[in-house]
Amino acid sequence: MKYIPQIEPWIDGAELKQLEEVISSTFITENKKTEEFLNQICQLTGSPHAIATSNGTLALVASLLSAGIGDGDEVIVPDLTFIATSNAVILVGAKPVFCDVLPTSGCLDVDACAELINEKTKAIIPVHLYGQSVEMEQLEALVTKHGIVVIEDAAESMGVFYKGKHTGTFGDYGIFSFFGNKLITCGEGGVVLTKTTENYKELYRIKNHGRDRKGIFIHENVGYNFCFTDLQAAIGVAQLQKYETMITAKKSHFKLYSQLLADIDEVEVVDVPDYVDSNYWFVNILLESPADLNDYLESKGIGTRRYFYPLHLQPCYQPLQRDCPNSLALYEKGLSLPSSVLLKEDEIKYVCSQIRSFYTSKLKR
Ligand SMILES: Cc1ncc(COP(=O)(O)O)c(C=O)c1O
Repeated sequence: MKYIPQIEPWIDGAELKQLEEVISSTFITENKKTEEFLNQICQLTGSPHAIATSNGTLALVASLLSAGIGDGDEVIVPDLTFIATSNAVILVGAKPVFCDVLPTSGCLDVDACAELINEKTKAIIPVHLYGQSVEMEQLEALVTKHGIVVIEDAAESMGVFYKGKHTGTFGDYGIFSFFGNKLITCGEGGVVLTKTTENYKELYRIKNHGRDRKGIFIHENVGYNFCFTDLQAAIGVAQLQKYETMITAKKSHFKLYSQLLADIDEVEVVDVPDYVDSNYWFVNILLESPADLNDYLESKGIGTRRYFYPLHLQPCYQPLQRDCPNSLALYEKGLSLPSSVLLKEDEIKYVCSQIRSFYTSKLKR
């Protein structure tokens, strides 16, 4: 059996065909192909507006800038997430405030979040982690009461619906990442979704040197270059052609993993509640000492990945420390199993049989 990576993209002739079209047009910066890609994202998510950015981190930065967040402001972020969520807050000069997460899903605990709100709180960034969804109805009720901006970090949740509505379309802003490990990838890339034309225009200026369109040199605002390219869009359009097949495959991988691991008492397969339609981005399990299973599986040619390291423990954030026990407990128990779209049934069976033999060999020791 060849090495099974934890995650790899599905790239084939479809991407090459789209790239050839863009390259032969010689227009490789952000243009028609990006427009096509964004239209498809709007169709898939139901969002009225989408803006492309160089990556998901800058999609967060653009959203924060558009919301007017900066010096002296506080932004609540979940403690369990990829560090880009909170780095974006720091980049605009605001302070990230770490909030504990729910014990199984790892998503923002909205009750805990309510406790952290004060007069400096200007925004909340709920993260739809690993294919889960934040309790958006509960969060909406909270922010309506306080008049706080919501920027959904949906970097990992393309194809995740909460009560029938696509994640990323609830808040004032919602962002996606198209990094190589995401369901839909462009290599690098990001998108901001927003509901209003006003935000759309503002976001466009922010990412395009402070102007409303390219090719003019009078700049009404200070802006930046967070642009996308038609090369990225070409890959994205090809990826979206495979979206339905990807989602179907991910769902059936999750089902098979769940069946094959059901009788291993030491392992809990993390599922989603009924009202969440997941993309099962990563198939995750909770167990004691994930590091040992990780090493064991690696020795058998299987790649796995530990959960994100809690933000409150990150060495680079030490002055910002606060306790988040659920986030820490999940880090200490979580492991992501091979989750690529192209995984074969016999590969999943092999992974599960190796997990089983890890526990039986432990008993013999
Ligand atoms: C939850 C989360 N937020 C933000 C990002 C940042 O996106 P990017 O890598 O495209 O900058 C990522 C991942 O890459 C992520 O997983």
